[in-house]
Amino acid sequence: MLDNYLEQDAWRIIERGWNPLNQTKSESIFSLGNGRMGQRANFEEDYSGETFQGNYVAGVYYPDKTKVGWWKNGYPEYFAKVLNAVNWIGLRIAVNGEKLDLNTVQVSDFYRELNMQHGYLQRSFIANFANGNAVKIVATRFLSLVDDEVGALSYSITPLNFSGEIVAIPYLDFDVENEDSNYEEKFWEEVEKSATAGKAHVCARTKKLDFQVCAAMRFALAEDGNAVTINSSFAEKLNYVENTFAFTAEEGKSYRITKYSAVLSSLNHTASNLANAANQLAEKALEKGFDAMLAEHAAAWEAKWNISDIEIDGDISAQQGIRFNIFQLNQTFTGVDARLNIGPKGFTGEKYGGSTYWDTEAYCLPFYLATADPSVAKNLLLYRYKQLGKAIENAEKLGFKNGAALYPMVTMNGEECHNEWEITFEEIHRNGAIAYGIFNYVRHTADREYLVDYGLEVLIAISRFWAQRVNFSEAKQEYVMLGVTGPNEYENNVNNNWYTNRLATWTMDWTMEVIKLMEEEFPEKLKTTLQKVGFATVKETKNWQDIVHNMHFPFYTEKQVFLQQEGFLDKELRNAADLNPAERPINQHWSWDRILRSVFIKQADVLQGIYFLEHQFDRATIRRNFDFYEPKTVHESSLSPCVHAILAARIGYDEKAYEMYLRTSRLDLDDYNKEVHEGLHITSMAGTWLSVVQGFGGMHIIKSRLRFDPALPKQWKALKFNLLWRGSNLLIKLMKGKMVVENHGENQAEFIVFGITYFVNPGKKETILFDV
Ligand code: BGC
Repeated sequence: MLDNYLEQDAWRIIERGWNPLNQTKSESIFSLGNGRMGQRANFEEDYSGETFQGNYVAGVYYPDKTKVGWWKNGYPEYFAKVLNAVNWIGLRIAVNGEKLDLNTVQVSDFYRELNMQHGYLQRSFIANFANGNAVKIVATRFLSLVDDEVGALSYSITPLNFSGEIVAIPYLDFDVENEDSNYEEKFWEEVEKSATAGKAHVCARTKKLDFQVCAAMRFALAEDGNAVTINSSFAEKLNYVENTFAFTAEEGKSYRITKYSAVLSSLNHTASNLANAANQLAEKALEKGFDAMLAEHAAAWEAKWNISDIEIDGDISAQQGIRFNIFQLNQTFTGVDARLNIGPKGFTGEKYGGSTYWDTEAYCLPFYLATADPSVAKNLLLYRYKQLGKAIENAEKLGFKNGAALYPMVTMNGEECHNEWEITFEEIHRNGAIAYGIFNYVRHTADREYLVDYGLEVLIAISRFWAQRVNFSEAKQEYVMLGVTGPNEYENNVNNNWYTNRLATWTMDWTMEVIKLMEEEFPEKLKTTLQKVGFATVKETKNWQDIVHNMHFPFYTEKQVFLQQEGFLDKELRNAADLNPAERPINQHWSWDRILRSVFIKQADVLQGIYFLEHQFDRATIRRNFDFYEPKTVHESSLSPCVHAILAARIGYDEKAYEMYLRTSRLDLDDYNKEVHEGLHITSMAGTWLSVVQGFGGMHIIKSRLRFDPALPKQWKALKFNLLWRGSNLLIKLMKGKMVVENHGENQAEFIVFGITYFVNPGKKETILFDV
């Protein structure tokens, strides 16, 4: 049963009517972020009902001591947690002595809107107090894209049937908790604070790692648009500062409180100057004013939409779904800082600790490559480059040597912080995704110098890992890779997972190719890089070649498909369609033991490899493997349907492609998995984008050339998307049997549509007709 209490609209997410049961879900869905910080859509005023509070500052985390029943050598000491940080939106309101709390007053005309076009959240309602007083509230807020350490809110109160006293208490509160704290401790301790009339700040540090965050606030009041002088009193408590002011409100007039909060962290400022800098920023925001700030912020969003929007004609629900995904991705990562990355839940919840997973390279990177300046995607790559040292240390801890790197499955600063043996030690395929990310970046941007400056070091370290992780089987007379977990986490400790073996040999092969290419293009720089990593060119490449040529790949000869792992055919070969619907999702109904023995696949595994390395497979191979694996797949990871949607579109399975796409496009808006209250599936949103652009739009890169093999769903009249490609900026419109490509960029674009090559110069367009 889908849970769609939200209205459909092309640019807005709309909730009408107050239902407290939806509050924690809406707190996720209406989340705001600007790359530097983010927050759940908690209320400004006090709320005594069920709520999940979340304000997050990018890059600030807490190493919570690992809690695990059975310790295994090699486990990390801690699990990183994204921290619920200072509540900067707080604004307590009392009307004629009665507190405004949506859990206690009668609420009518409740309306909440996430305006995706201009990046703000707005809420309005009428509060009817027990004493008969009624006020109308309109609360608007945003996290500025322009001043990205500032959040601003406007809160207007109109007495509807009385005149009386309103008391307002804007505050900043660091006395906050994480819901997922292992030992129920609070993670912040106060550093300093100050509250005086009209201003306040509070600074706190994390109890471990000493991250410091400082928030400063300013505020103003206007009556029907005219500024009113405020005389406020002030107070402080541990980790908390406030101002209080009162005013007499006349019936029918509107009283607008604006609040400006600067939230700065020691990641970007020296700790000793944090309070000062926060106060200066808050003051500047106050001077600029809410409306001017919002106008600038809205313009910045328009600029983002100009290069990242997708229009779907003829399907409002799909239109809203895709814009929601693009909006959330752009809220999560803006690419200005290579120390930051994309957690599976972004800034919308605590699950997955805000940490980086292989999701970034496998799913998110293509979105940023196609819709943002190349520096944005490059920063995602540099994030891993900077963590190479830690990945080498991580591999050393597990017994690898000679500069081999194992990137963590879950990380904040490069250290592994996941502690389930089957994932920490075995889900090593993540290393392949990191190498693949470099490949993807270079083939999209043609920035080959990146390889010699940064990429090659990472590739060599990963290849060294693979070379040591395999062993030669005398029995098979081939190399094997034992004891791994592939992307399908419903199998553990398997031998010769096809995907992992394939990514391993592909990495080694491509690394050798890159070395050759660099010899021609950047010979001097190459020498320096190889010296830096102590590369024994002859010996190491000989070993890699041997592995590449003699790796074992399990194969099912009868059906001519790649086998997910050794022994896969011993399983009872059933299809997911035969499962009892009441037992799905199986991860909520079956024992883990039963899941592991079953044939059912959590997410694309062999098909993930085929998707990544599509250039190596013909359509018939893709089809055979799709036909074999998709029916056995239960898609219990949100990252699964997108890969299937793309491959289905590629092999002409239009209905299947659309069915798979539907499972990802409104996952959170319709709360498919009944877990949206925990936060949004940010990384799988990139998967939805992939389904539309790479699936229906048919965009792919084969041998470094841009190709389109469009497959517009029959449910849609038209699809329009943007694509940045090597200095060209393509606006692509797809209709039944027709494709129009406009080039708004600076470079000529070359691309292939259904096998025919086209060139489009800047400022020009090409119309292509084809049979469908
Ligand atoms: C998936 C992983 C993914 C993680 C975070 C898991 O459920 O199986 O592939 O990296 O979620 O999104």
